[in-house]
Amino acid sequence: MKAQKPPMGFNTWNRFLDVRDFPQVEQITHDSVVALAKAMVDSGMKDAGYEYFVMDDGFQGYTRDHRGRLQGHARRFRPGIPALIEEVKSLGLKMGIYSVPGRFTCFEQYQDYHGLGNGSLDREEIDAISFAEWGIDFLKYDWCRAHINDGLDAPTAFRKMADALAKHAPDIVFSISEYGLFKSHEWAPEFTNMWRTTDDLFANWKSILGTIDQQIGLESYSGPGRWNDPDMLQIGNHALTDSENRAHMIMWAILNAPLMAGNDLVTMTDKVRDILCHRGLIAVNQDWGGRQGKLIRAYGELQVWEKPMSNGSTALAYLNRGEVAIKVRATDDAPAATSVRDVWSSDSAGAAEVVEVEPHGAILLITQ
Ligand code: GLA
Repeated sequence: MKAQKPPMGFNTWNRFLDVRDFPQVEQITHDSVVALAKAMVDSGMKDAGYEYFVMDDGFQGYTRDHRGRLQGHARRFRPGIPALIEEVKSLGLKMGIYSVPGRFTCFEQYQDYHGLGNGSLDREEIDAISFAEWGIDFLKYDWCRAHINDGLDAPTAFRKMADALAKHAPDIVFSISEYGLFKSHEWAPEFTNMWRTTDDLFANWKSILGTIDQQIGLESYSGPGRWNDPDMLQIGNHALTDSENRAHMIMWAILNAPLMAGNDLVTMTDKVRDILCHRGLIAVNQDWGGRQGKLIRAYGELQVWEKPMSNGSTALAYLNRGEVAIKVRATDDAPAATSVRDVWSSDSAGAAEVVEVEPHGAILLITQ
């Protein structure tokens, strides 16, 4: 069975998306992609559990080949996509790729593009065959306004690709994204492994909070093999502070969110790597029971999220959304608890002890 735990990996999009120069497509090349994949291994990300290397939008050629097959941009991907995939997979990583149900990818719509489109509309079969031949392990399938451009119905269009994958490439993890426009959590669990619940996440605190708020109430849809996806990580990008990066990781851990890093792995600082690779936070995210955390209390700028762990303990995330430190006590939310362990620091304490949550920050406690 696929995706029994929330998938972990890296996706190129956030790395190459620069809000000032959007997106830096000239930087998406064979060499830069391979450098990121190598850094994923050398930095220890792979050892920490990040296994899928996903190449997002922006790699495609201007047109498909004479048989209608998807191909890479001729100048930026000179050795070709199959050669790139082979190189990434030779590092011991799994490979993911990107396509869309309509004619045009999102990026083709953002830029001054006048071609026929690289999307998979009516080419689902030929694309699934290419993906199987290339050894693809993961497909991100992104809506990109296909209802407007192509008059498509989301559940039907996504299912069409699911059927093609089932026929030609049944082991591919199928990740879809319609930004929560069409309530994918209601129909996607049947034939996909993860679905975006929200619009794109950006590297700022407001966007992180807005995304978290939109996860409230979705916990029952998620479980092994089918995950709510609040979008790829922005940890390590732009102006996010250490405490914001840590809070982002803590919240994605308690939400059982797929952990797809999106920062520049080649230049990342040790601090960012330590957050992404924190064994305790990853263990909460990957807990085999696969039960997503839910909001149990909100008070002022504080939110408390609770996740039952499969060993009988309970994880509690305290999120401080505001500008001043907040004092909390685990027994307020878990009255029967006697001890707590702070997952980030590994420090243990009595459950009645008062602890402080820094502004724009979060702590994750395991209560017993
Ligand atoms: C959408 C998706 C992003 C990314 C881009 C690519 O905005 O939500 O994650 O895939 O398209 O164009």
